[in-house]
Amino acid sequence: MESYILDWANLLLRWLHVITAIAWVGSSFYFVFLDSSLTPPVDNDLKKQGVNGELWAVHGGGFYHPVKFNVSPPKMPDHLHWFYWESYTTWLSGFALLTVSYLWNANIYLVNPGDPDGMSPAAAIASALSFLVVFWLLYDFICRIFGQKKNGDAIVGAMVLVLVCIAAFLACHIFPGQAAFLLMGAMIATSMSANVFFWIIPGQRKVVAALKAGQPVDPIHGKRGKQRSVHNTYFTLPVLFAMLSNHYGWLYGHQLNWLVLILMMFAGAAIRQFFVMRHGYKLGRNSHPWPYAVVGVLVLIGVFSWLKPVPAASAPSAAPAPATAPATAAVPADAAAGGSIGYAQVGPFFQQHCVVCHGAAIQQKGVRLDSAEGVKSHAQQIYQQVVQLRKMPFGNPGSLTEDERNMIKQWYESGASVN
Ligand code: HEC
Repeated sequence: MESYILDWANLLLRWLHVITAIAWVGSSFYFVFLDSSLTPPVDNDLKKQGVNGELWAVHGGGFYHPVKFNVSPPKMPDHLHWFYWESYTTWLSGFALLTVSYLWNANIYLVNPGDPDGMSPAAAIASALSFLVVFWLLYDFICRIFGQKKNGDAIVGAMVLVLVCIAAFLACHIFPGQAAFLLMGAMIATSMSANVFFWIIPGQRKVVAALKAGQPVDPIHGKRGKQRSVHNTYFTLPVLFAMLSNHYGWLYGHQLNWLVLILMMFAGAAIRQFFVMRHGYKLGRNSHPWPYAVVGVLVLIGVFSWLKPVPAASAPSAAPAPATAPATAAVPADAAAGGSIGYAQVGPFFQQHCVVCHGAAIQQKGVRLDSAEGVKSHAQQIYQQVVQLRKMPFGNPGSLTEDERNMIKQWYESGASVN
């Protein structure tokens, strides 16, 4: 029952989280586009009011004409729309989702199951949360100290890049890969929301208060808000990658998973830079944006080639082999070193260690391992879950030993036959 309720909580929160994130990222992308696409106003009245940029757009059958004021409008409008609930609800739903899917079962998701030196679940939760807090404190410190300096943007950019690399390295060494990748996303996303909460919105409030009181407006608030908002735009693609990557075991389960994560996030930021520059480039303002896209795509291609599975025939296809084909036709060379293990030896492990959750009564993730056919059709997934990721048996209730895990490895690598 608990897992059924958790599954529902997970489903509904994920749904909510994706919707609010779309609203947040959508509005944030829109304003970055708007800012880089503004042209000086044509109309003299607008100029007199202090407008320094305008855009004409057509959308959904209507014509729109947003204008941007230099610092602030001459007088406060009656209705002013604020953008912050998109960000806050994304963070709140995301944090709730992190809680039900990782923190709740910290002993399984935040600690490598079966790791004798593993942290206690409480320590794992505390470390996970400290990633979110410490990154924000350091990032905020860097922005405060260097943000307003000459070449501040470049210095802050370089330092934040180093900080992200260190965090990725640490996270991937402290937590199982899946949790590490997700936490990196949550960590950066927390700083994005904190930028909105601690800087952008308070700055805007000060400007509005000054306007209402008829006092001069300090342009620093607008500048600082803009700077944090620009950081958020570069964080977006890396964060979305980290969030989605936890569905791909071959990615986060790689031995150098921290490097994989850094490279993929870097590619995302470069590709975002291409889009940001492209808006201004069309108006002849920026230099050519294409090099950024090319670098981003080259990094993606590089990671693709790097992670490509070795074409040893050791990965049997999920489709049942023709009855006449010898099951051990493709024995990779290294199987000889480990010795060939047959189904007679490993078959009982599946009965003993897997069938409670993958049998007739319960089929977690639709995987059934109570027959040779079931094992055969899931052989590659079994290898991934048991050997590469070490996630299964989930929580290891029957204490599958290292030797037994190793035998499953050798069985798979010597052709995964079930005869
Ligand atoms: C205590 C229950 C339990 C046991 C025992 C267990 N599993 Fe699982 N299994 C799960 C759960 C829960 C999931 C879904 C995991 C998730 O969503 O991250 C799962 C998922 C899987 C998947 C699908 C993973 C995917 O996302 O593609 C495979 C394959 C698998 N298990 C294999 C095994 C094997 C092999 C064993 C025995 C060595 C085993 N499991 C033992 C609970 C269990």
